Amino acid sequence: MKKKVVRKVKRIDTEVDKLRMKRKDTDTLKVKENVFDEPTLKALYTLSNKGIIQAMGGPISTGKEANVFLAEGEEKDIAVKIYRISSSTFNSMEDYILGDPRFRNIRHSKRDIIFAWTKKEQRNLIRAKEAGVLVPEPLVAERNILVMEFMGMDEKPYPSLKEHALKKDAAEEVFSTVIKYIDLLYNKADLVHGDLSEYNILIDPNTNEPIFIDMGQSVTKEHPRSKDFMLRDIENITRYFKRYGIDEDPHDLYSYIRNKKENEQINKHKR
Ligand SMILES: Nc1ncnc2c1ncn2[C@@H]1O[C@H](COP(=O)(O)OP(=O)(O)OP(=O)(O)O)[C@@H](O)[C@H]1O
Ligand SMILES: [Mg+2]
Repeated sequence: MKKKVVRKVKRIDTEVDKLRMKRKDTDTLKVKENVFDEPTLKALYTLSNKGIIQAMGGPISTGKEANVFLAEGEEKDIAVKIYRISSSTFNSMEDYILGDPRFRNIRHSKRDIIFAWTKKEQRNLIRAKEAGVLVPEPLVAERNILVMEFMGMDEKPYPSLKEHALKKDAAEEVFSTVIKYIDLLYNKADLVHGDLSEYNILIDPNTNEPIFIDMGQSVTKEHPRSKDFMLRDIENITRYFKRYGIDEDPHDLYSYIRNKKENEQINKHKR
């Protein structure tokens, strides 16, 4: 098994020193500066001592707030998402956290908000999975690190919806599954994804099954803006699927999902 940067987390300090020498490798330098700060190293060390991370692999993605790495888990490959403490967009995190009743008591330092955010992503993924939405299974949240099931094959992550062209029939299937997932999230998990788009949906190319990812910002129904966020999610999806000749009105889908539970209650009553 060949990996770009294979190393035991236990030896991470020395390895990081070695990385520092690769001056030309800007990506690695970025990784060193932004991700592997002292608290993060400690958290990685803890996860390695527990055996959850056997070895760190190469970077999968460098996003706005987090870096995602491939790693070897206890049995399978895992994805390790590390929120940067130095993240510049954490102010927007505050808006999502403060409206969420589950996080009423957190202290408001930047660090605490990021730790809460990491836990929030874990809980959101668990709730989504329990409601029947296909998501990476979260394994552990430790400080700013979320360890989850790796969604990919042969050390390569599955393509995003954006990167994976679909035939018309398959596109229709994917579209209806995505709408079903938004519905399950709202009506069963009491959640709204909040950043749903062709970038935050992966496709298993063997089955064309969509997988929702990136749920740190997902909010419960009680969040004052949850309804705006759901409409925006639906608009992003209907906009994207227009290229496949699928022309659905986002407002109709939105009303259908919002009124569903009420209608079910009314029907139950009638029976
Ligand atoms: N569990 C996973 N398995 C495989 N790949 C993953 C997994 N989680 C994330 N990725 C990869 O990492 C990328 C970024 O993940 P994610 O969207 O969760 O992070 P992010 O930092 O919020 O990204 P961005 O700021 O770009 O939205 C994904 O597009 C995907 O390619
Ligand atoms: Mg993302």
